[in-house]
Amino acid sequence: MRIDVLTLFPPMLDGFLSESMLGRAQAAKLLEIKVHNLRDWTKDKHNTTDDRPFGGGAGMVLKCEPVFAAIEELQTPGCRRIYLTPDGTPLSPALALELSQQQHLVLLSGHYEGIDQRIREKVIDQEVSIGDYVLTNGTLAAAVLIDALARFIPGVLGEEKSLTTESFTSKLLDFPQYTRPAVYRDMSVPEVLLSGNHGEIEKWRHAKQVEKTSSVRPDLLK
Ligand code: ADE
Repeated sequence: MRIDVLTLFPPMLDGFLSESMLGRAQAAKLLEIKVHNLRDWTKDKHNTTDDRPFGGGAGMVLKCEPVFAAIEELQTPGCRRIYLTPDGTPLSPALALELSQQQHLVLLSGHYEGIDQRIREKVIDQEVSIGDYVLTNGTLAAAVLIDALARFIPGVLGEEKSLTTESFTSKLLDFPQYTRPAVYRDMSVPEVLLSGNHGEIEKWRHAKQVEKTSSVRPDLLK
């Protein structure tokens, strides 16, 4: 799978993409990610990417020219061109899974007060939000989207199993985990986990999942 990211702030992604699971996934060629600076597609001497909105109002708007040029150069037949924006479709596990099955994604990170509507209509296939809050720019949102979908690419997570039992694939939140020592500062690990009785452990974990989900995310139980 290949992902091209268009942003005005490529350094925001450098460390993030080279560390941990995403770094290893790229080294293993499970995923190829290229980060591009939108300014590379500007033609004027000030490398202008934004301008004042027609009709007035505060803030600046990302211009058509550099974005059309960049996307038209990077796109491939059948690729999915995604604009990260707070007014997009909310990111969900189902959407992350669907996007992980694409061959090629082009991600556009917004900035300023928005982008020219003609970009959205002509060179964007899908708009995605990572949540109901507004970030200063979409670069972090692109990072979140990449991270969430990469976990669904076979081989990216160490153990395939951890994906199916984890929060949200099952619609229940996770059960509590413990590791050694069995007693730390007078706090003991629940007895059942030391029992070796796998049936009882499963039951306990499921009960804890239901308990946690009803207190933190009752909406998931409906
Ligand atoms: N850009 C700014 N805020 C965002 C959000 N919540 N999701 C996606 N892109 C964004």
